[in-house]
Amino acid sequence: MTKSFTTEEANTVYHQPVMLRESLEGLAIKPDGIYVDTTFGGGGHSKAILTHLTTGKLFAFDQDEDAAAIAASINHPAFTFIQANARFLQRFLAFHQVQQIDGLLADLGVSSHQIDTATRGFSTRLGGPLDMRMDQSSSLTASQIVNTYTGEQLMHILRTYGELRAAPAIAKALLAARDNQPITTTQALKDIVLPFAPPRQHAKFLAQVFQALRIEVNDELGALQAWLEQSKQLLKPGGRLVVISYHSLEDKPVKRFIKTGNFEGDLQKDLYGNPLQPLVPIANKVIVPSEEELAANPRARSAKLRIGERTSWCE
Ligand SMILES: C[S@@+](CC[C@H](N)C(=O)[O-])C[C@H]1O[C@@H](n2cnc3c(N)ncnc32)[C@H](O)[C@@H]1O
Repeated sequence: MTKSFTTEEANTVYHQPVMLRESLEGLAIKPDGIYVDTTFGGGGHSKAILTHLTTGKLFAFDQDEDAAAIAASINHPAFTFIQANARFLQRFLAFHQVQQIDGLLADLGVSSHQIDTATRGFSTRLGGPLDMRMDQSSSLTASQIVNTYTGEQLMHILRTYGELRAAPAIAKALLAARDNQPITTTQALKDIVLPFAPPRQHAKFLAQVFQALRIEVNDELGALQAWLEQSKQLLKPGGRLVVISYHSLEDKPVKRFIKTGNFEGDLQKDLYGNPLQPLVPIANKVIVPSEEELAANPRARSAKLRIGERTSWCE
């Protein structure tokens, strides 16, 4: 059943938008422009963008049905919500007769609502099913991963997405545990992996294990690359790309893409040595939350914001 939220719940509990002022400045919103928010969440950024539009339009994506319930409460003529993975950005925008946009915002990762809802299985603190799907209709859960992936696959995920040194030992322990009984809850997972946590670093270690599984469940890095690639064709010259990321596995591809237009960070040059860049970075340095914001919202602590501007160069 689709959930519904009161306006107050939506504003206070669901998610506190991170670097709101900086994101809006980065988008350099034109009142008649066409904008996309690929990660609607509780709609904090989207609602603020809408206040700057007159004849413009905002298309917001989120794959989560709880986010869709929040979006349903926004009654604004410029607003269209699309409950889908942003990896299909171009396809859905084409459906709405949109070929070119003036700006795109992404605030990556999970919302506070998703983390704080025990039944979603994202929380390292709250007990819940081992789920971690942002899109509740998708078939792959974290439980399926830990119970069916091979030791090699588990090791790869833990090492690559969790940056865990103990990946081989943890993978082995998961295989041994699931031989006794399927691993279906976040508590069962914690009991199996915690013996491998470095002393006094349990919270960080669990965050890394959960991050690894969450990235795999939602193919977060695959989706990120897919929509970034499409943004090149969608953004008009002068259009802005604004991305907030929360860990280096997200920030690295974003940084490279904004500098070079590819994920290898390989800057192409013409015969005369002029750079062939679809985007140029706007600020030289990465933007991070202010002290005041961090004091008010500690969950913003790892956030990094990058801004790119579309050039007129086409591949
Ligand atoms: C950090 S929250 C965004 C919060 C939002 N900016 C706000 O102020 O409320 C990230 C949201 O993006 C969604 N999401 C993440 N990756 C997505 C993707 N590839 N496609 C669609 N939604 C995605 C998640 O479901 C989550 O609701």
